[in-house]
Amino acid sequence: MDFLADPHDGGPLSLHTFEGRDDTTRDGVLLNQASGRFYVIQDGIPTLFIDELRPDDTAFARRYHGRLKALGCEVKASGGEKAGDLTRIENERQARDDQAEDYDRMLSMKVLGLFEIPRYKAALSEETASPLLEAGCGTGRLTHVFAQIAPDVVAVDMSRESLVRNRVRHHARTYNPVHYVHADLTHLPLKDAVFGRCAHAGVYEHIPSRDLRLQFLSHARRTMKKDGVLMISAYRYGGVTTFFEKEGEHDGGIPFFRFTPDELQGEVETSFRVEKLVANLGIYMSMVVARA
Ligand SMILES: C[S@@+](CC[C@H](N)C(=O)[O-])C[C@H]1O[C@@H](n2cnc3c(N)ncnc32)[C@H](O)[C@@H]1O
Repeated sequence: MDFLADPHDGGPLSLHTFEGRDDTTRDGVLLNQASGRFYVIQDGIPTLFIDELRPDDTAFARRYHGRLKALGCEVKASGGEKAGDLTRIENERQARDDQAEDYDRMLSMKVLGLFEIPRYKAALSEETASPLLEAGCGTGRLTHVFAQIAPDVVAVDMSRESLVRNRVRHHARTYNPVHYVHADLTHLPLKDAVFGRCAHAGVYEHIPSRDLRLQFLSHARRTMKKDGVLMISAYRYGGVTTFFEKEGEHDGGIPFFRFTPDELQGEVETSFRVEKLVANLGIYMSMVVARA
């Protein structure tokens, strides 16, 4: 509740938990009293998408019909008309849910981690008592690293399957608390000026258009404290990687772009002050360090 806001209008949300038949149930809703919009919490993970990307929650609405009615929650059909780029986000959400288990098994990601983690830690090493935003946490390959350097981590991803896997993985460890949020980074349901650091690794290249990428950056900036540090790691285009496709789709229709250093810097500078842009992992990725 210290971090969350309505993804539509940034308005405040009130928390209503639903007691289940046993005390393990952690369901409830977050309600925007002014608009009547509500967002579901299932098994402790809040889901906060704009209407156009709202996952189907009819089963939840049916199960808690009486309670939702008593609270004055406005039950709406999910999905509906949406612009082409939002359809691509929705397709990727499905693909990420379907592939979450495979992602965890990818040996290449484990090997990459050995090289990436020390650099990410160094980039985000500035001490601050503020929470860290992990924007696109996936199944938790890096979440435990951030939970060692920040007092609280808010881990956002649009794939619920990935968040659930991340939570299981993180709970096996004993680092600082991680708060999971099921949401779209281009409509971040988070309050202003909360975070001292933001980590965004291996995600930026999958946001399907320049407009949506800039929208994410502007949200990230809004949620960060002044002078907070943003670290982005994204596919690089240039040198040897010009033999790779500049843009395309991975399995399941996951979009990707490769950015020249100038392209990446130009986009990040629309909301942040870039301090450093270096080649990472040989020349495969770029790492940007920037300040809010
Ligand atoms: C390649 S994985 C990287 C995950 C993690 N950062 C890592 O390095 O292992 C990309 C993740 O970004 C998430 N993602 C992509 N676009 C997103 C968006 N618009 N909103 C929220 N999550 C998004 C995907 O669901 C996926 O879990």
